[in-house]
Amino acid sequence: MIMKYTILEDHSPYYVTFTYPGFEDVVDYCRNFKYYWAPEKVTANFTHWALPQGIGQLVLKKSRLPDLGYLENRVSLFITKPGGYYPPHKDAGDHRVSINYPIQILDQNCTTQWYSDEQLDAWPINTELARAGMSRESLDFQHLDKEKLIPSKNVCFQEGSCILFNTDIFHDFDNSQSKHVRVMLTIRLQNPGEMYFDDLKETLFK
Ligand SMILES: [Fe+2]
Repeated sequence: MIMKYTILEDHSPYYVTFTYPGFEDVVDYCRNFKYYWAPEKVTANFTHWALPQGIGQLVLKKSRLPDLGYLENRVSLFITKPGGYYPPHKDAGDHRVSINYPIQILDQNCTTQWYSDEQLDAWPINTELARAGMSRESLDFQHLDKEKLIPSKNVCFQEGSCILFNTDIFHDFDNSQSKHVRVMLTIRLQNPGEMYFDDLKETLFK
């Protein structure tokens, strides 16, 4: 059966929200782990929880995404505590795009922003993280620094859809005004350098 993926909102090149039959299965499955993000358990500003590989494989199977080769050991839940902020970065060394599923977003106060390279000229890249292939991240960027910038795009994602996310443009996420833990499932491709946002968009919605 060919899966029908339907665009809800197209804000290319930053993000596309979309839906398809049964995408909720993935969300419902991940919510089984909500014990791990009970408010009293979330102490870190931000936690990248890569699910154990067997569980990651199961999530991928349940996702019913087209078989493009995904990183089974990097099916991850991003857990941000109330008040948490993650500074501008591009993902890993060469990850261009990811597919995200909101698992828990309980208010309208967590925003995601994208910025141009020029906007972030004043902050050098954190070479330690870049060399490790973990992130291309603005060094020493503080939450207050946001006031100096005008984002190219701003969005408050909500539950109830999937997100095609351009991770190759600087972006941050800001839960500083929220009183709730935010949880996002993120799925990455195995061959990141080869597939860009537009490529994946065309593959999903052709
Ligand atoms: Fe990111």
